[in-house]
Amino acid sequence: MSTPVRIGIVGAGAVVVHGHVPSLQAIPGVQVIAICDTNLARAQEAAAKFNIPHVFADYRDLIARDDVDAITVAVPNVFHAPVAIAALEAGKHVLCEKPLATSVEDGKAMVAAAEKAGKVLAINMSNRPRPEILMLRQMAQAGRFGKITYAFGRMLRRNGIPGYGSWFTRKELAGGGATMDIGVHMLDMVYWILGFPPVSTVRGEIQAVHGPYERGLGGWGADHVPGGTFDVDDLAAIHLRLANGGLVTIEVTWAIHARNEERIQIAGDLAGADYFPDLYGRDHPLRIYRTEDGVPVEVAPDVPKKEWAWAEGFRHFVAACRGEGAPLATGAEGLAVLRLLEAAYRSAAAGTEVRV
Ligand SMILES: NC(=O)c1ccc[n+]([C@@H]2O[C@H](COP(=O)([O-])OP(=O)(O)OC[C@H]3O[C@@H](n4cnc5c(N)ncnc54)[C@H](O)[C@@H]3O)[C@@H](O)[C@H]2O)c1
Repeated sequence: MSTPVRIGIVGAGAVVVHGHVPSLQAIPGVQVIAICDTNLARAQEAAAKFNIPHVFADYRDLIARDDVDAITVAVPNVFHAPVAIAALEAGKHVLCEKPLATSVEDGKAMVAAAEKAGKVLAINMSNRPRPEILMLRQMAQAGRFGKITYAFGRMLRRNGIPGYGSWFTRKELAGGGATMDIGVHMLDMVYWILGFPPVSTVRGEIQAVHGPYERGLGGWGADHVPGGTFDVDDLAAIHLRLANGGLVTIEVTWAIHARNEERIQIAGDLAGADYFPDLYGRDHPLRIYRTEDGVPVEVAPDVPKKEWAWAEGFRHFVAACRGEGAPLATGAEGLAVLRLLEAAYRSAAAGTEVRV
């Protein structure tokens, strides 16, 4: 019999309805007992659909409940810090959506609040549990690539601007655009595969190409406001110079005249890997390159199939709430990635590489 874990969810938008609730309700012993959204009708609709007993418009009312052991936070990025900190101070475990916060200062306060409360602060880096990412991470951590001196991650969306005119495209609420929304995923994946090595400098090239003209819109997000504000970025290239001399390059777009694409390359002095389903096909999307007895060898490993890996982080979080292991991604790791993103914005504004 699993220890019961009673969860409240703050936010009832797209990621909660498609991700948080189904992921949590599939875990034995978990009860989603409360949901909150400033748009009360949206929270009520989710509560009716998923059979969630308690509904609130103000997160403080949800956090005040004694029967909530843990919360998940899925509200506009700028509210991650106040909601998470209030919950931690009330003795709740927290799984926060990405990015951890909109500033390093807020992120630090969240990590400090978790340490002070002795509670779990996890971040939903939902791409980590994908089988190909796990395989790359395991290979890198087992030393199979040798010394890694080059890594590349690209996530291009052709028409993928979410929630145009809503919080997603307003800097004061989101902290940034494609960089904060999907740059955080790609940087986290690659940086996690490498094992969070020390970084010496960051260079960011960050642009708003299509958003200001209301082009390149996608369907994601609960709210869309035609003619609304777009004062964030939709294209970013971020270069990290590692302390060991290595280079990491990340490229992401919300909108671009190119096809959707995802690619991750890892190259060390012993071997390299290339995850590129567009080139190698979905069945064997990963290639390992090495040299054996002077002969170049290319291997297409069987990447295990995993049904809806997205939910995996929630299973780790619930286990961590039960004192059974660590979250898949910690608040401290979310903070480390946020520091790099913030440095990329600083670099882009200054037009020069910055030290971190
Ligand atoms: N891990 C992932 O794969 C993933 C995917 C999508 C979104 N996200 C993250 O999840 C968060 C939410 O994104 P979304 O796509 O659900 O956005 P959304 O716009 O669809 O939903 C956000 C919801 O928050 C509500 N809200 C706003 N302020 C609030 C407050 N103070 N208290 C309570 N509710 C409030 C809004 O009314 C809305 O219903 C963001 O941080 C986003 O970056 C993560």
